[in-house]
Amino acid sequence: MQDLSNINDYQASSTLLAGKNIVVTGAGDGIGKAAALSFAAHGATVILVGKTIEKLALVYDEIEAAGHPQPVLVELDLAEASHRDFAALNNEIIDQLGSLHGLLHNAGILGEMKPLSQYDAETFDQVIKVNLSSNFNLTNALMPALNLADHASVIFTSSGVGRKSRAYWGAYAVSKFGIEGLMQTWADELADTSNIRVNSLNPGATQTQMRKQAYPGEALNSNPEPSAIMNAYLYLIGSDSIGVNGQALNAQSK
Ligand SMILES: NC(=O)c1ccc[n+]([C@@H]2O[C@H](COP(=O)([O-])OP(=O)(O)OC[C@H]3O[C@@H](n4cnc5c(N)ncnc54)[C@H](OP(=O)(O)O)[C@@H]3O)[C@@H](O)[C@H]2O)c1
Repeated sequence: MQDLSNINDYQASSTLLAGKNIVVTGAGDGIGKAAALSFAAHGATVILVGKTIEKLALVYDEIEAAGHPQPVLVELDLAEASHRDFAALNNEIIDQLGSLHGLLHNAGILGEMKPLSQYDAETFDQVIKVNLSSNFNLTNALMPALNLADHASVIFTSSGVGRKSRAYWGAYAVSKFGIEGLMQTWADELADTSNIRVNSLNPGATQTQMRKQAYPGEALNSNPEPSAIMNAYLYLIGSDSIGVNGQALNAQSK
């Protein structure tokens, strides 16, 4: 077993993702935006999935202006999307691109920072839907496209509180524990039956809107920008991680 504790030091070749098709959810902002730009800069055709079309369009334009492979833009609210929407995306990917080599489940919401005894039930359901159920449904729907690739990588986004919970993290922590369970189950089921590897990645504290919401008093520059944590994302999504499966990994060293 290779040492996976330093994947944040990984150096990707500039053509690592040439010819690869990769879905990134929540691609319009924060870590998802940085991942979409980074994957495109390494040669991938990125399928930008997200809720706010204006934000996705800006990422699309930035990728196009840089001369990277033309991305695909998919407006999809993961809280509202149906099985039919997910299946349509799978069919579109197969029709237009042939297969899918990577799926980064990145979109997420924080919900409330409150004791569970005061947590709003509707918010709880919403957080579980966006952060967990949609990851299950989208992965299932995209299996045909993933299976058409010679090798494919699915990355689930975890969190520190998805591995050891803390007070007041509510549905968010529960959803991220669920993500680890989903990842482990899928990884075990697919290990001997497919060329799809499945892992979870905790980005660690990163300067985004969500971090600001969770820690409003924190100085802005206390944490790295999303673009500074991309080495681990590139490692896991690209072919250098073939054989790595079922691992709970960190994008920043402790
Ligand atoms: N930042 C950190 O310190 C940190 C630490 C640990 C884990 N994480 C995890 O990293 C991932 C990215 O977080 P971030 O910090 O980059 O957060 P962010 O800046 O708030 O970005 C979240 C992204 O998810 C999208 N999204 C939210 N609800 C959605 C929905 N219903 N349908 C589709 N897309 C939706 C947002 O789109 P809109 O902008 O259009 O709403 C946005 O693009 C999350 O899974 C988060 O839990 C972050």
